[in-house]
Amino acid sequence: MRYSEDLIEEIRMKSDIVDVISGYVKLQRKGSSYFGLCPFHNEKSPSFSVSPSKQMYYCFGCGAGGNVFTFLMEYENFTFVEALKSLAERAGVELPQLEYSKEAKAQADLKSTILEVNKLAAKYYYFQLRKESAATAMSYLKGRELSDETINKFGLGYSDKYSDDLYRYLKSKNYSDDILRQSGLFNVDERRGMYDKFWNRVIFPIMDVNNRVIGFGGRVMGDAKPKYLNSPETKIFDKSRNLYGLNLARTSRKRNLIICEGYMDVISMHQAGFNNAVASLGTALTSQQASLLKRYTDEVLIIYDSDEAGVKAALRAIPMLKTAGLATKVINLRPYKDPDEFIKNMGQEAFQERLDNGMNSFLFELKAMEQQYDMEDPQGKTDFYKETARKLLRFEDELERSNYIQAVADTYKVPAEDLRKMVNRFALQGAGIQEVVKPKSGINRSHEKQNGFELSQKLMLTWMTSYPEIFGEVARYIGPEDFTKPLYHTVAGMLFEQYEQGQLNPARLLNNFTDSEEQKEVAGVFNAQIPLETDEERKMALLDVICRLKEDSIAHKSAQLAPTDMQGLMDLMQSKKELEDLRAGKLHLHISFN
Ligand code: CTP
Ligand code: MN
Repeated sequence: MRYSEDLIEEIRMKSDIVDVISGYVKLQRKGSSYFGLCPFHNEKSPSFSVSPSKQMYYCFGCGAGGNVFTFLMEYENFTFVEALKSLAERAGVELPQLEYSKEAKAQADLKSTILEVNKLAAKYYYFQLRKESAATAMSYLKGRELSDETINKFGLGYSDKYSDDLYRYLKSKNYSDDILRQSGLFNVDERRGMYDKFWNRVIFPIMDVNNRVIGFGGRVMGDAKPKYLNSPETKIFDKSRNLYGLNLARTSRKRNLIICEGYMDVISMHQAGFNNAVASLGTALTSQQASLLKRYTDEVLIIYDSDEAGVKAALRAIPMLKTAGLATKVINLRPYKDPDEFIKNMGQEAFQERLDNGMNSFLFELKAMEQQYDMEDPQGKTDFYKETARKLLRFEDELERSNYIQAVADTYKVPAEDLRKMVNRFALQGAGIQEVVKPKSGINRSHEKQNGFELSQKLMLTWMTSYPEIFGEVARYIGPEDFTKPLYHTVAGMLFEQYEQGQLNPARLLNNFTDSEEQKEVAGVFNAQIPLETDEERKMALLDVICRLKEDSIAHKSAQLAPTDMQGLMDLMQSKKELEDLRAGKLHLHISFN
């Protein structure tokens, strides 16, 4: 059972967003909105806005945004239901008791049992390490220069040489084979039955942000392979949503978080006083992890291994971190391989210096991109700057974009004005979503193109909510079915429905998204800026976005069309014709912006 949509909306309407946020942030009225210092990132001048008419907030600095529920979820780290309860209480609305279904309850029980098993196992390994018989394991860790304090702080342990003693221990506590199998701590095979997964390894318990043990990593004490064994994903262990060390790093009170590759890197950084280090769990950084980081900081320092794989991993991570609203710098450790090695050889101060000299992630991307162009050749160089200009368009905020243009000009010793002109020219050609230059390799083309289409869909949603007066005219050409990205499709469907009922209400629409990442993305959609001045420019850009959206939607439809669907085919031809006419200027948008 869930709370009804009407009840959720009632609570939202009774919780004026300006009142609620005023309890946390000092707000000042400026025109039709309120402004204050953003509570989600460090800033000196206010870019956090709260709109009484939209009943939404949005930060022009970090992109945080949403309705009153989102605000509490982000600020207080509440779940949606917690935010709802807190506002219901504030507004004096009584919530009905929710009854969990039998399955939901069974799932919850299963999860807490696996957590119990993990905790017992972690304690077991912990005590094994501190026994006489674990002398080799202890001296391995000491050999890696870990202090007793560090070993204890990270709860390190040891799985001894017997391959069934953890199993027997947990059986003695009356856990069923089924539960033990689901804990991921055991292997099962027909001949031997069930036996311990970790065997003669030092053990790194993996904690979630609430200090609950959710899995384990185990390292051999020499050069044998595999070097690390990790718990498989279980009902409680999702590798893409957790970060090693975050339980400690979240309270470090440093201005940024450091993301690195390995357990040992995290541990040696913490030991050297860099207690804001975390690592992903043996897989590439995911977007969920980026969002998780964003809860605790606004800036991330990437310290990956100094090899080609490390550079690649950094290039993959940067856009993900940016999308999550994080500023990113990349730290160079050369000639050392990883933080553990660097700190051992160079010490804490030299390491701090490297952290202070992190490279801006955008400039890092450009540096990597240089490799794809022949920078000795005038054409190669021009292509490089074109691609750079196109990348610069992604900075939506004008001042930010301008700062980056300046930085690129300084780094590459080209006139800033020339670069600025190039960027502006591309901007008018298609609001930053056109593919102007083909990179040499061409590998990412279709991916980039896909991003371009998603961006047009996002822009379209912004247009429609920022200028409700154009809705009717746009609806002649575009419908919800033209939004191919699932989340945007859903949002568009709701918007059109609201429009037909004569009431556009983006804040209400947000109630439908109870996941705070989705809420944030949707809020961003309604608040993206359209940095165009004149009516004429806006019309051109809008027309361009409509055409792009149509083009993408036609491609999708024709890919899905059944060969026998004659009606579908005719509709498609009609759409194509319309698109051509629009492009050729035969159809006109009858729009004016208020
Ligand atoms: N990893 C893994 N399985 C392996 C090797 C690595 O799961 N066979 C994961 C581990 O999470 C490890 C991370 O990838 O922490 C980074 O690997 P590496 O740099 O080799 O590990 P370090 O933590 O630096 O380990 P060490 O210094 O002990 O060699
Ligand atoms: Mn290492």
